[in-house]
Amino acid sequence: MVVEQLKVGFDNFSYVIYCLKKNEAAIVDPSYDSSKVLNFISSKDLILKYIILTHYHSDHTSDTLRIKKLHPSIKIVSSKCDGEKLVFNVDFYVSDYDELKVGDVNLKFILTPGHTKGGICIIVDNEAILTGDTLFIGDCGRTDLPGGSFKQMFKTLQEKIKPLPDNLIVFPGHDYGNKPFDILGNQKRTNKTLLARNLEEFSKIP
Ligand SMILES: [Fe+2]
Repeated sequence: MVVEQLKVGFDNFSYVIYCLKKNEAAIVDPSYDSSKVLNFISSKDLILKYIILTHYHSDHTSDTLRIKKLHPSIKIVSSKCDGEKLVFNVDFYVSDYDELKVGDVNLKFILTPGHTKGGICIIVDNEAILTGDTLFIGDCGRTDLPGGSFKQMFKTLQEKIKPLPDNLIVFPGHDYGNKPFDILGNQKRTNKTLLARNLEEFSKIP
């Protein structure tokens, strides 16, 4: 597995995606105290290439500049829509189905609006998906914050998440479920937000 899940803050997850062959790494959603994340990176002698932000909320982005100061060559990556909401500059934006390499590890980005307008998920080597606040284990992200859309979230879950292969390991942005990660096939069978067949059913989920 080329994804390390690290608990930071209260229930947030930060992630390190890395390639041991080429010693390269990307951090996803650095927030609170990223010492744990940086320790992991130095313990494996990895070179930090990217900070990828699944969306603009501060509990997913607040340690970005601290890391950029420590590693000035690192590139900050987000969607255009959410990147424009950040209080710091993003180095480049990604669009739907763009790809990026971290060493030999392939990242594919999908735009998944609903929690925010520019939320993204990251598919790693067709083995895992980092879902930010789009999909949690057993639930989806809230849609009542600025930029959130209940209808858009339903569309994202139906059209972007459900068609993905069952074997992907879902790594969410928060530890809200009964386990820290799960395979997408299990989530399709058990997650109430993926089981809703239409917008009406989705709207009745408590
Ligand atoms: Fe969020």
